[in-house]
Amino acid sequence: MAGAAANGGEGWSSRWAFVLAAVGAAVGLGNIWRFPTLAGENGGGAFVLLYIGCVVLIGLPMVLSEVMIGRHGRSDAYHSVVKVAEDSGASRNWGIFGGMGILSAALILSFYSVVAGWVLYYVGVMGADLLGAIFSGNPFAGALASESPETIPDRMTNLFENNPMLLGMHVIFMGITIWIVARGVTDGIEKAATLLMPAFFALLVLITIYGAFTGEFGKAVAFMFTPDFSKLTPGVMNEALGQALFSMSVASAALITYGGYVSKETKLAPTAGMISFADTAVAILAGLMIFPIVFAVGLDAAAGPTLVFQSLPIAFHTMPAGSLVGFLFFVLVFFAALTSSISLLEAAVAWAMEKFGWARAKAAWLVGGAIFLVGVACALSLNIWSEVRLLGFWSLFADANIFDTIDGLVGKVLLPLTAFLTSIFVGWKADKKLVAAETGLSAGALGIYRFLIAWLAPIAVFLILLFGLFPSLLG
Ligand code: PHE
Repeated sequence: MAGAAANGGEGWSSRWAFVLAAVGAAVGLGNIWRFPTLAGENGGGAFVLLYIGCVVLIGLPMVLSEVMIGRHGRSDAYHSVVKVAEDSGASRNWGIFGGMGILSAALILSFYSVVAGWVLYYVGVMGADLLGAIFSGNPFAGALASESPETIPDRMTNLFENNPMLLGMHVIFMGITIWIVARGVTDGIEKAATLLMPAFFALLVLITIYGAFTGEFGKAVAFMFTPDFSKLTPGVMNEALGQALFSMSVASAALITYGGYVSKETKLAPTAGMISFADTAVAILAGLMIFPIVFAVGLDAAAGPTLVFQSLPIAFHTMPAGSLVGFLFFVLVFFAALTSSISLLEAAVAWAMEKFGWARAKAAWLVGGAIFLVGVACALSLNIWSEVRLLGFWSLFADANIFDTIDGLVGKVLLPLTAFLTSIFVGWKADKKLVAAETGLSAGALGIYRFLIAWLAPIAVFLILLFGLFPSLLG
């Protein structure tokens, strides 16, 4: 039953609470290291422009569509889609894409929480380092003063071989996530977002200013914004759109679920605009925070996943007050990862509560526990299970360990497929009056929105899916 109180009557206490929670869901690890690296490697300013185009033309209409489905359905992603389908005279089977979103959320969380565990480990390392610096009377020392730039990267490789530490951090991170979700929408999720997100923004601005004064700001700006249009190949366009969807938390049930807690009075279109803008601004600012620091010590900006965990600690080692700033940096990343993980877990928990009639706390611990176990497999695939191939028969995943298989399955298959079905559903199947009333758009804006969601989004997303599945098509 997807009735009025299907979501247990829970709801945000204000529009701001919703905006902060949704921005918290969107802003995460994707913004902090993936976007800046992609931009730098793939054409700088040209990539940034392309990315902004994807955000405005496809991401934003998708965000609006998902929040709208949730608000109308007032339930988890699956039951909300079913409700909109019923009210539109469409088949209940459309609920399947809601279910796929929930599955994606659970799968993303399984490996996301492992990476968040690494972040937590570095919060601990840098925190201990800072305490040491303070007690030795030198609070503005560089980070990890007793180590050298050659040995600092070993921190990460050693962590990857240390299962008790790896799993311990994973346990702690999932435990915190579950505990917050178990407390409920207002006392847990909303409270976490209203505490963590302002702190996140303050740290982001602070560290960016620090980097601008002590690092190579000009070089960072040149790296991220010098346009090189020759680099915009179909593969790069594909990557930009995929990144926009992941970063905006589209197609993974989180926004539909959070939309289910939005009051009828809230205007959805400006709210969706704010979420999209904030997510994009943070992605760009993250680059302007990280690269001046990376360039200050002449490190490679294209280090990829190790940029945050190996290059930055080396940079903090040599920079003034690196111990302090390094600690604050990992706290910032931790906050970003936590608010995203909360939304991923909530997407699955809301469904389990509705489906099985479980109380919230029970749903949170059971669902969170199951996701945690999948995460253990992801963590072990860094070492003892590195040779295990989940989908070895599929050429796309023939060389992928468990972690990369789940990551790739979600990013290349589930997310684009779900986004495709969402846009087809909202653009072609959902009742036009219902969409007009829920989005509250004026006639002109509604026309543009309809065009984007019915035509541009499905075509563009179909192309990501195609090229993702058959990379050889790109030559
Ligand atoms: N958008 C988050 C990030 O950029 C990840 C995420 C995806 C969160 C999907 C919720 C749902 O890190």
